[in-house]
Amino acid sequence: MGKDVIIALDFPSCSDTLAFLNKLRGASRKPFVKIGMELFYSEGPDIVRKIKESGHKIFLDLKLHDIPNTVYSSVRSLSQLQPDMLNVHASGSIDMMKAAVDALNSECEVKPLVIAVTLLTSLSAQKLNDELLITSSVEDTVVHYAENAKKAGLNGVVCSPLEVGKIHERLGADFLTVTPGIRFSDGNVGDQVRVTTPERAKELGSDYIVVGRPITRAENPLEVYERCINEFCGE
Ligand code: C5P
Repeated sequence: MGKDVIIALDFPSCSDTLAFLNKLRGASRKPFVKIGMELFYSEGPDIVRKIKESGHKIFLDLKLHDIPNTVYSSVRSLSQLQPDMLNVHASGSIDMMKAAVDALNSECEVKPLVIAVTLLTSLSAQKLNDELLITSSVEDTVVHYAENAKKAGLNGVVCSPLEVGKIHERLGADFLTVTPGIRFSDGNVGDQVRVTTPERAKELGSDYIVVGRPITRAENPLEVYERCINEFCGE
């Protein structure tokens, strides 16, 4: 599995998104992109079809979290859009994650990768303990949720690059780690807490990095995208 940079298309509209993608023309590879809640909820499923038609691979980041039956039906609906990757929350339980896998098995000839969100990279240890009353450490919680995801038959997890080593060690090098929370050392962290640079994410063994604002809000997005590709995918 080749490493890749996934650009988070966190835009409010189709026109903003297409204007942004236009700025990436001439990139050294066709960018793998992520469509999340903001864009999907404003534009609906057509935005997925449109971007897929223009040749981009798509990670549909809708972070499903509901009772297993609802997740099963939702994944069945989403599979019609033929995303390359989609996700659910690991905290929804092993049964819920299995429901997502079952739906893909029943619907798809070519199955998208299905991964689980462990803990959001915006969560600190203090919030985990004080607000969510989870007394285990961030790392133990993430690794445990990743074990549950593997038991459910998922392909991997979304996690911080800081947790990748432990996850690969416990669950094998083939178990995918998709890591947001990427920032350059000279950039703005924003609301992310557990952050690393693309280069460091590569050293730590991430399979995919997800990069949003450092690229989408850059003056020259193409230049920053290529910097990510070089740092993360380069020899
Ligand atoms: O702009 P930024 O680089 O922080 O974007 C990160 C993207 O990854 C956002 O679209 C966010 O929703 C997503 N994400 C995350 N942490 C997770 C799962 C997804 O930041 N655990």
